Amino acid sequence: MKDAIAHPAQPMPRAVIAGVGAYTPEQVLTNADLEKLVNTTDEWIVSRSGIHERHIAGEKVATSDLSVEAARRALAAAGVAAAAVDMIIVATVTPDMPFPNTACLVQRKIGAVNATCFDLEAACTGFLFAMETARQYIRTGAIRTALIIGAEKLSSVTDWQDRATCVLFGDGAGAVVLQAGAADGARGIVNTVTGSDGSLADLLQIPAGGSRLPASHATVDGRLHYMKMNGREVFKHAVRSMSDAVLRVLAGAGLTLADVDIIVPHQANLRIIHAISDKLGVPLEKFFVNLDRYGNMSAASIPVALEEAVRTGRVHSGQTVVMVAFGGGFTWGATVMKW
Ligand code: UT7
Repeated sequence: MKDAIAHPAQPMPRAVIAGVGAYTPEQVLTNADLEKLVNTTDEWIVSRSGIHERHIAGEKVATSDLSVEAARRALAAAGVAAAAVDMIIVATVTPDMPFPNTACLVQRKIGAVNATCFDLEAACTGFLFAMETARQYIRTGAIRTALIIGAEKLSSVTDWQDRATCVLFGDGAGAVVLQAGAADGARGIVNTVTGSDGSLADLLQIPAGGSRLPASHATVDGRLHYMKMNGREVFKHAVRSMSDAVLRVLAGAGLTLADVDIIVPHQANLRIIHAISDKLGVPLEKFFVNLDRYGNMSAASIPVALEEAVRTGRVHSGQTVVMVAFGGGFTWGATVMKW
């Protein structure tokens, strides 16, 4: 990390996304496959969530492996060498292990020898929190180039006997290269809002495996190392918090909903996206959706969706793009940027 801090009187640089990359494992798990595992139907899954299939990583593949693939693609898209990266942040709830952090493991594999590396855990909002963290380093002049990765191997914390959750999640990784741009440049992040409500922490969690309930025979027998979710409650809060976050991030930037070209939301449930569209009065066509093919990939959902939106031309130069997420904690956040 560079130790030079920009003089306070100097205008702060904008953080610009210079490249996007994504990777999802080849193996696809369809709703028909799930019908053989648990008491569910394709009709239930599609009508309640919009999900048709999800990608599942192999047994020997860890979150850092998914991250490396996405990171290499993002660096190539940006034309940035690994050695030029000042910081790597991996947003994840499924690190390879408690420590060292997954970002350090990515650093070793891609040779980003000059980077400061750490993980950030804010569940499904993790990628936006990580981008905002790096943006603040960039604005103060402490760093110039950050590699932000959202990566999850959720299949490793999914209870394949619990039909209420196992149909929802998938594995994957997405990454962006965030760089200092001109302070008065047309491109870059304009504003970000973030928030949390720890009073609702119990509604979405993995109960065991930390210092509260270390791994034991009892925690394994109790299936406490898997994700537990009160779906209905999470749903309500997700709609409310994401809608509010969009309005707040735009107001803070002096923009309105009419200025927005495209919204890339967290991909948890198509009904949540429909409800936000209704609440905000923004047509569904303005929301980018790919959860039908990936399910909910937590911190990886937004960067994987963003990569597809860029690759297919849905996001292009000159547009005003909003990203918005909600997840366990609870945590939520939104970012508005000029692409
Ligand atoms: O990533 C951020 C956090 N996550 C989210 O944002 C997810 C938020 N929540 C949701 O997306 C939805 O609440 C779910 C998709 C998880 C569930 O949809 P729902 O409409 O809220 O269903 P429900 O949990 O209220 O369950 C309705 C019924 C229940 O049966 P009864 O009690 O009505 O007889 C469930 O037992 O559906 C049953 N059910 C299923 N049936 C067939 C639950 N899961 C399944 C299943 N297949 N896979």
